[in-house]
Amino acid sequence: MRSLGAGRVALDMVGETVTIAGWVHRRRDLGGLIFLDVRDRSGLVQASAGPGWTAAGAMDAVRALGPEDVIRVRGIVQPRPEEARRPEMATGEIEIQVIELELLNRARTPTIPVYRAPEEELPSEKLRLRHRVLDLRRAELQESLALRHRLALETRNFFHGHGFLDIETPILTKPTPEGARDFLVPSRVHSGEFFALPQSPQLYKQLLMIAGFDRYMQIARCFRDEDLRADRQPEFTQIDVEASFVEPEDIYRWCEGLVARLAPLAGAVAEPPFARMSWDEAMERYGSDRPDLRWTLDIHDRSEVLGALDFRLLRGAVARGERIRTLQLEGGARLSRREIAALEGAARGAGAPGLLWAKILEDRATGPLGRFFRDDTRARLGLASGDLLLAAAGPDRITSPALDAVRAAAISALAIPPSTRHAWAWVTRFPVFEDVGDGALAANHHPFVQPDPADMHLLDSAPLSVRGLAYDLVYNGTELGSGSIRIHDAALQRRILAMLGLGADEIETKFGFLLDALGTGAPPHGGIALGVDRIAARFAGASSLRDVIAFPKTTAARALFEGAPTAVADEDLAALGISLRGRRDGGASG
Ligand code: AMO
Repeated sequence: MRSLGAGRVALDMVGETVTIAGWVHRRRDLGGLIFLDVRDRSGLVQASAGPGWTAAGAMDAVRALGPEDVIRVRGIVQPRPEEARRPEMATGEIEIQVIELELLNRARTPTIPVYRAPEEELPSEKLRLRHRVLDLRRAELQESLALRHRLALETRNFFHGHGFLDIETPILTKPTPEGARDFLVPSRVHSGEFFALPQSPQLYKQLLMIAGFDRYMQIARCFRDEDLRADRQPEFTQIDVEASFVEPEDIYRWCEGLVARLAPLAGAVAEPPFARMSWDEAMERYGSDRPDLRWTLDIHDRSEVLGALDFRLLRGAVARGERIRTLQLEGGARLSRREIAALEGAARGAGAPGLLWAKILEDRATGPLGRFFRDDTRARLGLASGDLLLAAAGPDRITSPALDAVRAAAISALAIPPSTRHAWAWVTRFPVFEDVGDGALAANHHPFVQPDPADMHLLDSAPLSVRGLAYDLVYNGTELGSGSIRIHDAALQRRILAMLGLGADEIETKFGFLLDALGTGAPPHGGIALGVDRIAARFAGASSLRDVIAFPKTTAARALFEGAPTAVADEDLAALGISLRGRRDGGASG
């Protein structure tokens, strides 16, 4: 039907007759001469129809073309006249002089334009998602899906090269605890019983290790019913990895090798070995377990100096055993009151009651904190004229997120240049548990993380101090992956589940199959899962995961193009043994 892709027509084909097929991207009618930009996945090429070389019938057909009509063009490749050359375009040196044109299919007037003039803005995202098929014709989306393909291909090749097997795990399964709600699927055959869609293949990959597969990988679809944000989708894809007889270093090495191969596919840079930082250090220095290390700006504990000032609020905090932590911004004194108020807003937005500040001027310090400075405060804190000191007092669980948010806001307010464009790091030794109030514990990640053997003695006495053999891969402030060495001892697994508040019966119903398998001779094992959508989005410079997913959900968890979720007819529900509370008469509609 066609001899080559539109974007492949090149200068060395001048004089050749070629046949291309694709969409009418844009048509410019100059009276006697008509230019068509013809588009297919490979790119765009200009075709020109003119009375000297195009038959009269074909001229009429060209004149009747509208945007997005599907056509086939046979013509001769010609160099463009000097003044019409566009060297920045792959086919910018040539055009195809139309001999024959066939209309393969007529398009309705597009609801959103595919061709846009350079200054024209994109239609709203809602509109674009509703008309996704047209939006997907955009070069940016074509490229981001092609990028995903290359990432997946390279990933499989990489792991294949390291002896991993790609093994599929079930989609209809039992709940996997990853901290979100499950999507449930009612069983028709077993009325009143439900499958869960997997939040991740976590338990299956562990079972595969116990079954002796040794090295597993899968590009796995995961489903989580959680509140959505720009970096979350209810269904998303992981590069899921598990291996037996490994230590964290083995996982780091594989992931670093993989990422170093993936990054260049999208113009990103990853140069192993990546920085390593314990969770405690990350929280101390950056207030976050996914610090953006493109900037070196660190948080400091200044309790000693600031707690000694004649400032009741700060003295009180220190007396309560809390800390005063600060960010010191070189040149920050140039920020206006309003800009500083915006930084305070960032702290409040992250849950802090406020933010104290001191502007360091030539001869004095000003601001709600600065006015309490003593003669030696500035020197003791190493502050210079022109600096801005921002301080948060309180328990770490308040000051950490606050200063993390303030750090990001300050970097942007002061336009601080990054020291690197690509900052990769491993954050290691995450806490095993988190405090969910009233003395109750929850798993900080999932309940299968192996506690660090060095911390085992704290399991009963100080569980919140127990660190796990768990690690996250962080890139420019985004968590791209997360993993751990797993518990392979059935008794320890049972003990951890009990610490999480599960009764013996619940442990048996929910995790009996795992405990049973662990008892059959489970090798030490561990792994990781990397988020494909996040990797693709960060590498493609996309602001949302939706830009790297063919048919994404909105933040309100809807599929706008195909229109899902939908109501279900009463008889279909009845077959599943389900009746809806408060359902209006008339069953499914609209
Ligand atoms: P975790 O839940 O941390 O770990 O997920 C691993 C990685 O998956 C990506 N991710 C998401 N991407 C898009 N939308 C979401 N809703 C979403 N949730 C997670 C992130 C994240 O780093 N079974 C464990 C892994 C393991 O221990 O091996 C797990 O799923 O990039």
